[in-house]
Amino acid sequence: MIRILPLTIAERLDFYHQDHLLTGWDDLTPDQQAAFAAELETVDFDQLMDLLAQQKSHHSAEDETPAQRAYRAQPPSSLVRLPRTAAEQAEWKTAEQRGEDLLRAGKVGAILVAGGQGTRLGYDHPKGMYPLGPVSDAPLFQLLCEQLLARARRAGHTIPYYIMTSDATHDETVAFFQKHRFFGLPKADVYFFQQGNMPAADAQSGQLLLSDAGQLAMSPDGHGGLLQALSSSGMLENMQDRGVEYLYYHQVDNPLAIVCDPAYLGWHDLSGAEVSTKVIAKRSAAEKMGIAVDVDGVTQIIEYSDLPDEVAQRKTASGDLELWAGSTAIHVFSREFLERLAHGRWQLPFHIAHKAVPSYVPGEGLKTPEKPNAYKFERFIFDILPQASKALIVEADRTREFNPLKNADGVHSPDDVRRSLVNLHLGWAEEAGWEIPDATPVEISSLVALDAAEFAEQVGQQVQPEKTDRGWIWS
Ligand code: UD1
Repeated sequence: MIRILPLTIAERLDFYHQDHLLTGWDDLTPDQQAAFAAELETVDFDQLMDLLAQQKSHHSAEDETPAQRAYRAQPPSSLVRLPRTAAEQAEWKTAEQRGEDLLRAGKVGAILVAGGQGTRLGYDHPKGMYPLGPVSDAPLFQLLCEQLLARARRAGHTIPYYIMTSDATHDETVAFFQKHRFFGLPKADVYFFQQGNMPAADAQSGQLLLSDAGQLAMSPDGHGGLLQALSSSGMLENMQDRGVEYLYYHQVDNPLAIVCDPAYLGWHDLSGAEVSTKVIAKRSAAEKMGIAVDVDGVTQIIEYSDLPDEVAQRKTASGDLELWAGSTAIHVFSREFLERLAHGRWQLPFHIAHKAVPSYVPGEGLKTPEKPNAYKFERFIFDILPQASKALIVEADRTREFNPLKNADGVHSPDDVRRSLVNLHLGWAEEAGWEIPDATPVEISSLVALDAAEFAEQVGQQVQPEKTDRGWIWS
């Protein structure tokens, strides 16, 4: 029966107790057989078996789990707080000027991670396609690209945009950018590259699952797949060729992120950091954010799913959360740091999640479980922090910079994120002297202004907004 399959694969499947994958082989067409054989060739079974064994024994004896480590966590020490005094404001100004110099010199690129499946939002397309502009209905991708374009215009230098997609999002994302003419960005400055996949395994038996006849159930390997993907796609070389030395990294879900924020880039450079992370004060112990901490003097991020409740709840004498620094997942990386890691032997660890994964059984069809049935394996990019000679944590203002689209309802839902955008732009318009009728949504395109000061200078009272049924918009 397994004659057509290259013997080595059949033997390997047998060796790793994965020969169930060959059930139904004879029903596949020759093309399907060839494609399945090629897919199986890509699987690192040793690695998977190690991960499953680790999961069974919870962890290997020498490795401490992040949850165990969390008990020794302290607030981060290498920290720049928001400015509170005139002296601190002057320091922030110096950092901003430094960042502007870097942008003007063309030393900055941006990385957008857009490979996630966005399951919580329940939207059937890449999240970046979600229409979120409060008045314009502009998709998230447009809100982010226009910021980048405006920032590049202000700097007088292009900023390359490196966009990571996955099998789950690539084709639709690229087609969407093409359809919208790259949202005004020069096509030559937008690079798409794809992250890798990892198979899902049945949590009881460790057997790999199928998604269809002759197809493994695969999912993106986490945003930590970035390191490998940057290297194998040639993007690291591209960055070097273009003279890019600093990478502003952000997620597709947060339209309030200040894309290529000069002050943030400046702090990173002036403090000699190899990686920086922007944090905000967590609203509550239970808020689903990774936290920036020091453990044994090493700055790192512990993901919320790894943070024991009793540690998350710890309070200071004044009653505030002790581990307050919630990660916005906005980073700056020095290119050389990424290169060193991508080309070295060290690898990001995998995190294992217990999830409900539909699985195809030959002869029975696709079964959709109601409860978690499988393990999925993901790498997280923020696990590179401890590898840096210096990791810097920079505080940001939640209202100004953070409200990501995550959920269909409630906090971080489309309505909630639109409200944050409206409040931000309402503030800019009012500062410039506009009187806005109550409950009128307001939107300001980044191409008009990137901040309140620019809006006051460029628009002031001179430029009328377009007044539509949806609200007022300057675009
Ligand atoms: C993430 C962070 C969390 C942080 C929060 C801030 C992780 C694991 N956790 O949580 O610490 O406080 O954001 O909003 O990241 N992505 C890929 N490829 C993948 C998986 C994800 O590109 O394989 C991208 C997504 O497209 C998205 C981003 O990574 O842009 C975040 O992924 P998501 O799984 O939604 O993370 P959160 O749980 O929201």
